[in-house]
Amino acid sequence: MAMASSLSILLLLFLSFSFSSAAQRPKALVAPVTKDFTTLQYLTVFSQRTPLIPIHLVVDLGGRHLWVDCDSNYISSTYRPAPCRSALCSLADSDGCGDCFSPPRPGCNNNTCGVSPYNPFISTSTSGELATDVLSLSSTTGSNPSFLATASKFLFSCAPSFLLRGLASNSTGIAGLGKTRVAPPSQLSSIFSFKRKFALCLPSSPSSTGLLFFGDGPYKLLPNIDASQSLIYTRLITNPVSTAGSFKQGEPSYEYFIGVTSIKVNDKVVPINTTLLSIDDNGVGGTKISTVNPYTVLETSIYKAVLNAFTSAISGIKPVKTVSPFGVCYNASDLGSTRVGAAVPAIDLVLESESVYWRIFGANSMVAVTEQVLCLAFVDGGERPRTSVVVGGYQLEDNLLQFDLATSRLGFSSSLLFRQTTCANFNFTSVA
Ligand SMILES: *[C@@H]1O[C@H](CO)[C@@H](O)[C@H](O)[C@H]1NC(C)=O
Ligand SMILES: *[C@@H]1O[C@H](CO)[C@@H](O)[C@H](O)[C@H]1NC(C)=O
Ligand SMILES: *[C@@H]1O[C@H](CO)[C@@H](O)[C@H](O)[C@H]1NC(C)=O
Ligand SMILES: *[C@@H]1O[C@H](CO)[C@@H](O)[C@H](O)[C@H]1NC(C)=O
Ligand SMILES: *[C@@H]1O[C@H](CO)[C@@H](O)[C@H](O)[C@H]1NC(C)=O
Repeated sequence: MAMASSLSILLLLFLSFSFSSAAQRPKALVAPVTKDFTTLQYLTVFSQRTPLIPIHLVVDLGGRHLWVDCDSNYISSTYRPAPCRSALCSLADSDGCGDCFSPPRPGCNNNTCGVSPYNPFISTSTSGELATDVLSLSSTTGSNPSFLATASKFLFSCAPSFLLRGLASNSTGIAGLGKTRVAPPSQLSSIFSFKRKFALCLPSSPSSTGLLFFGDGPYKLLPNIDASQSLIYTRLITNPVSTAGSFKQGEPSYEYFIGVTSIKVNDKVVPINTTLLSIDDNGVGGTKISTVNPYTVLETSIYKAVLNAFTSAISGIKPVKTVSPFGVCYNASDLGSTRVGAAVPAIDLVLESESVYWRIFGANSMVAVTEQVLCLAFVDGGERPRTSVVVGGYQLEDNLLQFDLATSRLGFSSSLLFRQTTCANFNFTSVA
């Protein structure tokens, strides 16, 4: 307790120096999010360094922190490595101190502390120098981007170039948005003194731009809809055992878990072993939300039960040849269409009570593998996965998700198509 509070005092001292009070204080920040259709990853753009340059980062909702490749072309006059045993090292839960036996440059300095940047797409972590540099994002009051808000000492990790393997081309690192003190959501809210909330609205097409908001709503989408008004809330659950690639003994997970209690197809409960939906003492089981998995991944027995319930509910429609990795596909012209996508049975993730559920409509349950063929966008996660249900990117598209870290609450909108808007409808025209 004493340790935690002295750390937070240090955090406040440090962070308050990193934002010049002469500048305008932003109410919230906004960054664009696009989808790379080669890797099915979601990308955002922040501005970093001096002089400022745009850096393209893959979004990892459950990532520990922001890391970038410092080996190639990291040029900045404001880069500062974190001194060994400084408050910055404790803030970032540093793994220890180190020296570097090459000429000094960003990512290679003596007497600095290191952390473990992780690439979940290739399940690889390595060691990287902890550092601070300038980071800028557009401020917003909810309707348009406005002035650039600058954090002069944003804490992040360097990584070697090989850690970029498996990431969308042009990306130079990962924006980890997990519930740690140093991930951008908490760090930006401390720097700019806004609520410890952030929101994600993933786009669904190659040409469209979704959003990442730091801070509270409104989140205005054209035609003048405040998507924060459409949210239903559920508890965010802490998995007591870390699910990260590398972690310390006793460290809880910083990923986002929710308490799914049953799954319904067409309003009927799918018979599954509900023990798999809770998290056991070893951190196994439960439901998390991830932008790393392109489609929702279900433990085998749950997967089979959902597939069976789904095909039975539309047994009148004959499936076509299955396309891997999916389990069932239909001719699009055999399925009707609605405002919220293909006319198929709704799939509900039921949460703390019967009345709190996340409804997945055709737009998020059926993926077009060709112009004519739509497949159920869920995949088999095998028999003993760490987490039984991993809600993946496709199921999140055109849904607004708001993570409230202070109250451990998730707000979800279900499909915005129902409200006649999409995640691509933020007005990116800048206003002064
Ligand atoms: C770190 O210190 C060692 C030993 O003094 C030296 O050989 C090395 O060049 C230094 N590295 C950097 C990056 O300054
Ligand atoms: C990568 O960057 C180049 C040069 O900036 C640009 O032409 C290209 O469209 C980018 N590719 C992607 C996938 O964003
Ligand atoms: C349900 O799942 C739990 C956890 O994997 C397992 O221990 C239990 O035997 C299962 N129950 C049934 C009836 O299959
Ligand atoms: C889908 O149905 C249309 C219209 O009946 C037909 O022309 C087409 O060949 C079918 N496609 C597949 C892949 O079955
Ligand atoms: C987008 O915002 C700009 C600046 O406020 C405004 O002029 C423009 O009309 C807006 N676009 C739409 C489609 O509302």
